[in-house]
Amino acid sequence: MVRDSSKSGVLILGESGQVGRALKHLLGDDAILLTRKQADLSRPDSLEQALAPYHPAAIINAAAYTAVDKAEEEETLATTINGTAPGILADICKKRDIPP
Ligand SMILES: NC(=O)c1ccc[n+]([C@@H]2O[C@H](COP(=O)([O-])OP(=O)(O)OC[C@H]3O[C@@H](n4cnc5c(N)ncnc54)[C@H](OP(=O)(O)O)[C@@H]3O)[C@@H](O)[C@H]2O)c1
Repeated sequence: MVRDSSKSGVLILGESGQVGRALKHLLGDDAILLTRKQADLSRPDSLEQALAPYHPAAIINAAAYTAVDKAEEEETLATTINGTAPGILADICKKRDIPP
């Protein structure tokens, strides 16, 4: 992989989650953490604009619908957050040449 020096840091979605907090601890100043308010996976169409101000070297999606006990009654929401949104994130990464 050729590193693009105009990009730096690792953008992490899911700031408040277990994985997000562990990555923050691991990456320190290299971590750029986003809250649900900053990047809402339940609104996949908003993600491109939400991520536009950032120029990370990589993106890690640590955000997810994890309320498994409610997933059957909120199937559409769970599918959007865990299925549609990661696909959109991958498209954004491809378009911007960012390793997902
Ligand atoms: N924990 C583990 O040991 C582990 C191991 C392997 C893989 N994983 C995977 O890692 C991912 C995260 O797991 P976790 O344990 O960290 O879960 P978690 O503690 O339940 O955290 C979920 C995160 O997702 C965010 N989130 C939920 N809905 C969102 C939305 N619509 N838009 C943006 N952010 C949203 C939450 O934000 P709010 O605080 O705003 O709700 C929270 O930051 C999951 O895919 C899980 O399967 C976890």
